[in-house]
Amino acid sequence: MSIEMGTETSTEDYALRPATADDAEFLADMLTAAVNWDPAREAVSRDQVLADPRTAHYVEGWPRRGDLGVTAVAPGGRPIGAAWLRSFGADDPGYGFVAEDVPELSLGVVLAWRGKGVGRALLREAVRRAADGGFARICLSVERANRARLLYLGEGFVTVASGPDSDTMVLSVPGR
Ligand SMILES: CC(C)(COP(=O)(O)OP(=O)(O)OC[C@H]1O[C@@H](n2cnc3c(N)ncnc32)[C@H](O)[C@@H]1OP(=O)(O)O)[C@@H](O)C(=O)NCCC(=O)NCCS
Repeated sequence: MSIEMGTETSTEDYALRPATADDAEFLADMLTAAVNWDPAREAVSRDQVLADPRTAHYVEGWPRRGDLGVTAVAPGGRPIGAAWLRSFGADDPGYGFVAEDVPELSLGVVLAWRGKGVGRALLREAVRRAADGGFARICLSVERANRARLLYLGEGFVTVASGPDSDTMVLSVPGR
């Protein structure tokens, strides 16, 4: 069961709140988790993720104007997951870039909390906030072998482009 109170959504187990500047380090952790989604591959370190411009720009300078994010927190306030949206310029596109006015979604949940509905709740809340923020579409890039792809399909994302291993997906934001 979830109870909505102003900007917060609570369940018995965790709460969702807007991602703030204080969450910058945690977002970098979740970005690192997203890069390392496949446990069978050699892990990329957090430092490497933040040193590589292709990944660092998802969190650099968080929060920038136009950024939008949601953090899931366990009782006591410890962050356990985050979903955030950032728009990129055509001169510095994210992996899932489709247009400058279509922000790209990043999503991660700490290992111990996966498979309990946190990721879906974060995604839905990010979409709701995107609608409030006036965004008509959001995009993302996901490797085809990542189970997260099924989450996105189930939430209404459609594949608009495919590379050898990954898909670019777009959601038409409901109500926009
Ligand atoms: C992908 C991720 C954010 C999903 O969050 P979650 O809290 O584990 O997911 P939920 O419990 O809300 O489940 C929603 C769907 O996500 C998928 N999912 C569930 N557990 C998952 C896991 N361990 N890994 C990947 N996807 C998972 C399933 O499709 C699930 O749908 P189902 O319950 O109908 O099977 C999370 O597993 C994660 O952080 N994975 C590593 C980082 C990553 O891959 N990020 C996305 C990069 S595009």
